[in-house]
Amino acid sequence: MRLILAPMQGLVDDVMRDVLTRIGGFDACVSEFVRVTHTVHGRGVWLKLVPELEYNTQTFAGVDCTVQILGSDADNMALNALEALKYGAKKIDINFGCPAPTVNRHQGGSVLLREPQRIEHIVSTVRAALPEHIPLSAKMRLGYEDKALFLDCAHAIENGGACEVTVHARTKIEGYEPPAHWVYVKRICEALHIPVIANGDVFTLDDYKAIKAESGCDSVMLGRGAVRRPDLARQIMRYEQGLDPAAMAWPEVMEWVRLFFQLCETKAGDSKYPMARLKQWLGMMKLVYPEAVVLFEAIRPLKLNHEIAHVLKAA
Ligand SMILES: Cc1cc2nc3c(=O)[nH]c(=O)nc-3n(C[C@H](O)[C@H](O)[C@H](O)COP(=O)(O)O)c2cc1C
Repeated sequence: MRLILAPMQGLVDDVMRDVLTRIGGFDACVSEFVRVTHTVHGRGVWLKLVPELEYNTQTFAGVDCTVQILGSDADNMALNALEALKYGAKKIDINFGCPAPTVNRHQGGSVLLREPQRIEHIVSTVRAALPEHIPLSAKMRLGYEDKALFLDCAHAIENGGACEVTVHARTKIEGYEPPAHWVYVKRICEALHIPVIANGDVFTLDDYKAIKAESGCDSVMLGRGAVRRPDLARQIMRYEQGLDPAAMAWPEVMEWVRLFFQLCETKAGDSKYPMARLKQWLGMMKLVYPEAVVLFEAIRPLKLNHEIAHVLKAA
């Protein structure tokens, strides 16, 4: 059983990966996607999006961070993957799920799910370029408009030489609308020989039990659920170990919130980044913790980081 922290552009950046993996339960995490177009990105781009590259490509807690790339030009993606290795990448993942219109207009992300043969070409080209010991994985949705090609896409990823695939159990058109269709993940699991990681709508320990039962996968990727409920992975890990999966109480959540804010300030100084990121996180935790609603309201009107730090200290 492996629990993986999902790649989430604009939400799970290096600071969020750091804090969530310190809280515990995760076996691995994945970077936000690095978009590949016509150029080969230099060191600055890789380190900006994946600062873990400078630290053995692990978070502070020692959890490996996979580098995710997104694009449609197979040869240039291969060159970029090799470039990422130069700076320390130890595992590469390819994104076939992004629904963003700009990305899809340039033939990247989920739009490729209409063309399994292009998926296979991209995966096999990147695979052929990478040294044998570097694992290559991919992440897909169930399709673009519909699910007609979900198995073809999964086979394309396997045939291209990926060592595992994560399946976000929705089409592009379905966006993030519940429900996630875990039963399709089961069909992929049954058809493929490589490990399949189930993903989509795991917000509680009970959701985890349900996705495992319905998908037949033993590995699960957690996205929004892990941000809303920062100890979700820890609860799941404890449950799997036969321990009491007791949920984190608010005072402990606050300790992590203070650390998160401090790390944001260390990263970006007295910019808008620390307060914007904190408001974003509390906005998501409001869905789980009543205390987060109160704290969010207290910091919402504040415009200065030191005022926010003061409120956090007193909370
Ligand atoms: C804000 C946001 C950003 C995302 N960015 C990425 C990304 O960079 N790469 C990727 O493969 N998936 C991305 N995803 C999809 C998630 O990794 C995940 O597949 C999806 O949120 C479903 O899982 P969940 O229900 O556990 O959140 C993103 C999702 C969200 C909500």
